[in-house]
Amino acid sequence: MKLVVFLVATILVASQCHGASFRSFPLRLPTGYGDGASYGDVRCASWRLAVEAKNIFGFETIPEQCVEATANYIEGGQYQSDSKTVNQQVFFFARDREIHENDVVLFNIDGTVLSNVPYYSQHGYGSEKFNSTRYDEEFVNKGNAPALPETLKNYNKLLDLGLKVIFLTGRRTDKKAVTEANLKKAGYHTWEKLILKDPSNNQNSVEYKSTERAKLVQQGYRIIANVGDQWSGLSGHNVGIRTFKLPNPIDSTTEFSLCAFNKLWNFLNCYSNSDERIMKVFVFVVAITVAAWQCEGSEHGASFQIFPLRMKTGHGGRYIPEVSCQSWRVGVEAHNVIEWKTVPLDCEGYVGNYMLGDQYRSDSKTVCGEAYSYANTLNITAKDIWVFDVDETTLSNLPYYAHHGFGVEPYNSTLFNKWVDLGEAPALPESLKLYKKLLSLGIKIVFLTGRPLEQKAITVTNLKIAGYHKWEKLIVKDTSIYHGKTAVTYKSSERKKLEEQGYNIIGNIGDQWSDILGTNTGDRTFKLPDPMYYIS
Ligand SMILES: *[C@@H]1O[C@H](CO)[C@@H](O)[C@H](O)[C@H]1NC(C)=O
Ligand SMILES: *[C@@H]1O[C@H](CO)[C@@H](O)[C@H](O)[C@H]1NC(C)=O
Ligand SMILES: *[C@@H]1O[C@H](CO)[C@@H](O)[C@H](O)[C@H]1NC(C)=O
Repeated sequence: MKLVVFLVATILVASQCHGASFRSFPLRLPTGYGDGASYGDVRCASWRLAVEAKNIFGFETIPEQCVEATANYIEGGQYQSDSKTVNQQVFFFARDREIHENDVVLFNIDGTVLSNVPYYSQHGYGSEKFNSTRYDEEFVNKGNAPALPETLKNYNKLLDLGLKVIFLTGRRTDKKAVTEANLKKAGYHTWEKLILKDPSNNQNSVEYKSTERAKLVQQGYRIIANVGDQWSGLSGHNVGIRTFKLPNPIDSTTEFSLCAFNKLWNFLNCYSNSDERIMKVFVFVVAITVAAWQCEGSEHGASFQIFPLRMKTGHGGRYIPEVSCQSWRVGVEAHNVIEWKTVPLDCEGYVGNYMLGDQYRSDSKTVCGEAYSYANTLNITAKDIWVFDVDETTLSNLPYYAHHGFGVEPYNSTLFNKWVDLGEAPALPESLKLYKKLLSLGIKIVFLTGRPLEQKAITVTNLKIAGYHKWEKLIVKDTSIYHGKTAVTYKSSERKKLEEQGYNIIGNIGDQWSDILGTNTGDRTFKLPDPMYYIS
């Protein structure tokens, strides 16, 4: 409570310094949160988050300046905490369902059930270009990969629930025997199927996995959950009732081209044989890894079955009590934690600090920067539009939420509408920059918001005051048509109308997954951070 008072006071003071309203978004405190104290750490954490939230993909190596931050991330325990949160979500989801005989959970293998850190610790931690021959010779063929401990725990619990497990991997069929042996050695003893890729199969990862999942569905299986560390394994068709993205800070299946539905990536990427590069690049601190593995090995004489992460330390060896709130936030951004009503009570201080500190601004900047880099590669036509959500995308309601527990208090529509009706929401500075740059590229802007018709006038006023002066359309929710419908339904339907009118949605940005899921989502989508509320 004290913290809230302090934060609110800070906000008020800050806003007054900058002249009465919150328009200039004067919300910068010296502390960024959780992800590190230095500017570099904050930026690297933003990059990592953007990878988890599917804003950045198709990279060959991590940014050079983030190698150390990434090593700290893995070594410090945050990685395992993040993995744990995701696995817990899988389990809670499965536990609350009625299990049928043909219900299966799909797991990817490398980076999901087995860890390949031992390999990368000896190969420059990702600084070496990936070499699949060497990876097979020195890692896969040895069959010594340890389990990722949180996944192994979860696997056992899912089996106890009566679920079947299917492993679907990009490993080749000639690795079947060694993969089976490795799985058993690591503690995975039963499975319904182990699906490997035929060496003659030239499909990229999205296509290959979609095809295999379609076969499973034809065989009568129901995929209730699909767990992987790569978005490429969770995209495409028949992805399952729910997907779960395990953290993977440095790895890229470059072939994550959205080839089927993305012009740009189709153009650029579909011809590379990048599927060869199932890059599983982990960075680790040499001493810790090697020492840890060797200790385990010599003491127990056996294999390195459990990834020896140290849970007590947070980032870079410092203890950070907010580790689990941070995992929760990353889980929200990667769409693993869904349909939550309020921020966990224990995370109020964390979320408040995050929102007011540098990290939120930095995370937004990374997403907007990525959006602009993408837009800048396109040839713009008169019918090209970019869809912006409004609340927490274009305008910030942080001044309101700062007075209401940063999402800990249940949503109160009376109070919130009163705030909206003031028309005083400030622009999100990074979004405003992006908006201006997109306009300068000749892209038309469409605002698509869940705000109701009655708030259209005040929204127009507010947008203008905040610095947004020009748009092609501002679409608000007509509750006579969409009453009781989800945001996904409403927004998909309005985007479809736009396309029917001849517009071409080249980009779509929002702070909610419901802004960017559904149909007619546009050529590329971008997820801005928002740990304060969830809209389905
Ligand atoms: C890949 O690794 C193999 C085996 O270590 C080696 O012979 C080959 O030269 C490497 N290829 C490249 C492109 O570095
Ligand atoms: C954009 O237009 C130029 C000139 O016509 C062309 O060379 C280029 O390939 C186009 N780029 C894309 C991404 O379509
Ligand atoms: C919302 O806030 C108002 C004003 O404080 C209060 O009267 C009302 O009971 C609240 N509604 C809910 C559902 O909590």
